[in-house]
Amino acid sequence: MRKKIVAGNWKMNKTAAEAVALAAEVAALVKSDVPSNVQVIMAPPSLFISEVNKATEGITNLSVSAQNCHEKASGAYTGEISAPMLASAGVPYVILGHSERRQYFQESNAQLAAKVDAALENKLTPIFCCGESLELREGGEFLAFVAQQLTESLFHLSAEAFGQVVIAYEPIWAIGTGLTASSAQAQEMHAYLRQHIAGKYGQTVADACSILYGGSCNAQNAAELFACADVDGGLIGGASLKAGDFITIAKSF
Ligand code: G3P
Repeated sequence: MRKKIVAGNWKMNKTAAEAVALAAEVAALVKSDVPSNVQVIMAPPSLFISEVNKATEGITNLSVSAQNCHEKASGAYTGEISAPMLASAGVPYVILGHSERRQYFQESNAQLAAKVDAALENKLTPIFCCGESLELREGGEFLAFVAQQLTESLFHLSAEAFGQVVIAYEPIWAIGTGLTASSAQAQEMHAYLRQHIAGKYGQTVADACSILYGGSCNAQNAAELFACADVDGGLIGGASLKAGDFITIAKSF
């Protein structure tokens, strides 16, 4: 049985006090309301990871995540944070390849393969993001494009290593737009990616892989999306910034 996961990508939001307050509210609601078989993750700005991590203590189904890491272990990379640093701070997850990083920081599939390697070498669980632009969706090339992102960034991994990776499909045209993919669109892509994974690693590995949906997932549409056979949860942006909405999503399975 693959893991059900709801991760909140806070992006570049919240002050220190707001981050601590949100984490405390989420922690209290996870303890009281979220079934233990649902893994809830909070991905705050790096500056607040340690403080937010404190709120997860003693709650087995609540963890913290980084929003990125560098592919090198250390060096002259001003402003960057490495996987060993995250591991040393007790951070178990790291989001990699978010479309905003691909867009604003030109992260390539090859660079992301190196980031995935760095995360896995340091026992971090990568949440690997993939997804197509509206142009590719309208052009009909979206399935092959997203599958290629997995091929180029993940398919160098052994089956055992791949089994540590969480996938997040985030159609770019749905991120922050309020234009959520329909459940049929989400299921089509998730099933296609699972078939693509099966073609490389076999059905057992493919069936064990958690594939999350992201892109205007909210308290109103999460239940329909999570009811899809190949949707194993969500990577949530805007709706993760309010504890009540975020926990409603986490309870939507
Ligand atoms: O990483 C999740 C994010 O890209 C989705 O954002 O605001 O559309 O839920 P949002």
